[in-house]
Amino acid sequence: MTETLNISINKTANSKIDQVDFNNIQFGKVYSDHMFTAEYRNGEWNNLRIEPYEAMRISPASPALHYGISIFEGLKAFKDEKGQVNVFRADKNFERLNISANRMCMPQLPEQIFFEGLNELLKLDNQWVPDVPGTALYIRPFMFSNDDYIGIRPSESFKFMIITCPVGAYYAKPVKVKIEDHYVRAVEGGSGYCKTGCNYGPAIYPAKLAQDKGYDQLVWTDGRDHKYIEESGTMNVMFVIDGKLITPALGDTILNGITRDSVLALARDWGMTVEERKVEVAEVVAAAREGRLQEAFGAGTAATIAPIDLIGYKDEDFQLPPVEGRVFSQKVLKELDDIKLGRIDDRFNWVSKV
Ligand code: COI
Repeated sequence: MTETLNISINKTANSKIDQVDFNNIQFGKVYSDHMFTAEYRNGEWNNLRIEPYEAMRISPASPALHYGISIFEGLKAFKDEKGQVNVFRADKNFERLNISANRMCMPQLPEQIFFEGLNELLKLDNQWVPDVPGTALYIRPFMFSNDDYIGIRPSESFKFMIITCPVGAYYAKPVKVKIEDHYVRAVEGGSGYCKTGCNYGPAIYPAKLAQDKGYDQLVWTDGRDHKYIEESGTMNVMFVIDGKLITPALGDTILNGITRDSVLALARDWGMTVEERKVEVAEVVAAAREGRLQEAFGAGTAATIAPIDLIGYKDEDFQLPPVEGRVFSQKVLKELDDIKLGRIDDRFNWVSKV
């Protein structure tokens, strides 16, 4: 039997929990009391610890700051009606973290460090998992270069950390998206399939240009011809057209979203026709124009199932049908909530208990 790891625990003497209004939490503004850290040096992971959440020291020469040598994940924990904490599909986040690590010349994180670190942190900060409907504890594992060296080369030392924050909805209302036809998020051979800061930072400026025009987010298109839909800034995108669930197929340029995967599994389980393939912008625009675009939504851990109520493309805006009548996305949102909160059988084995 594998021995448990030696994780040192230093509890805070000043919990901030009394300052939090769990009925009114904004995404990413408040962090729980503790954080987990593991350090990689000389080819080994060591110095595993949980300590109070606070600012940390980092070398001003760290390649994380200069070259974006950093990766991250996002997953959620939920508190069910009995007070049990349920974590959703953490195994997929662990797998994806190591896929991103590989692309960014970072070491693989051992499974035991990820899961024991997460479990111990959630046990300690159990009170931070909210139980208000529509809330969750957002968990942000991340790894970055901890070298003190400004040259370009694979780094030698790293930190892996986990921080958590209670969150409400990422999008408070249905989103208005613009299909981007100039700026590019990812190209074949690039790092678009990874969760690295390098994919998110440069996307903020084009998204801001769209936000200045009244949209909430972009839908990215392929980096070569802007002909095919890829993903949105914070989530994968899906469409229901003529009763079929259609979403861009995975590849080098698209994040393998865990909510995406869950939605597809449920749709297939329910016998719906699912198409994972190249999705032409022209096809979505034509369906919207002809009233055949029944639903459009984003799927992501932070965003959950985010209904899209308007799609802008070039100089036209297409208003989508009212959210209340969207049979598939409402059903899928409820089913996912029911699974996460243990209200129905976890038939895919997606939930692990803390
Ligand atoms: C997530 O959904 O967990 C993400 O990481 C999206 C994010 C950029 C907020």
